[in-house]
Amino acid sequence: MSTLVVYASKHGATQGIAERIAAKLGEAGQEAEARPVEAVDDLASYEAFVVGSAVYAGHWQKEASAFVQRNRTVLASRPVWLFSSGPLGTEATDGKGRDLTVAAEPKEMEEFEGAIGPKGHSVFFGALDPGKLGFTERAIRKLPAARTMLPEGDFRDWTEIDTWASSIAHDLAQ
Ligand SMILES: Cc1cc2nc3c(=O)[nH]c(=O)nc-3n(C[C@H](O)[C@H](O)[C@H](O)COP(=O)(O)O)c2cc1C
Repeated sequence: MSTLVVYASKHGATQGIAERIAAKLGEAGQEAEARPVEAVDDLASYEAFVVGSAVYAGHWQKEASAFVQRNRTVLASRPVWLFSSGPLGTEATDGKGRDLTVAAEPKEMEEFEGAIGPKGHSVFFGALDPGKLGFTERAIRKLPAARTMLPEGDFRDWTEIDTWASSIAHDLAQ
């Protein structure tokens, strides 16, 4: 039995986080693999799940939310951890002094809490490479309100991600 790390990633930042979590679980002696949500069908052979998505305009990617909804019965019966990859930049708080990882909590999270009762949810800083963005995303970045929220760069905190993965491995080993 192994752990499946399922992810939805538009431009690769969330994929990198998911693969790192799977690798870290492996290092800790837990069998684990990372797969994009569209490449997952049968959940029966997994004992636990980590499900993650990039956050766009305050929401998880649709296919990740659909995965949770579609599989809520199985997910509710096994240990599940959720993560979101969202905030960008080097500041820990937004202009109003709110913790960015709290402000970036995706709107679906309350519903997921009720539907599957995850053991945890973490919001990690993400990454933005302007070269990968589509036309609409580039236009959104030019809006004055978005300019400070969407800086270019890779802000993923690998130490924080590793620590989270290690705590999951510890839980699984109990
Ligand atoms: C147009 C646009 C909108 C975004 N909206 C949000 C948002 O509402 N909340 C958030 O935390 N991050 C937001 N982000 C940042 C992304 O979630 C972040 O870059 C993430 O790591 C991207 O993951 P991916 O490469 O796997 O798609 C946005 C990024 C772009 C380009």
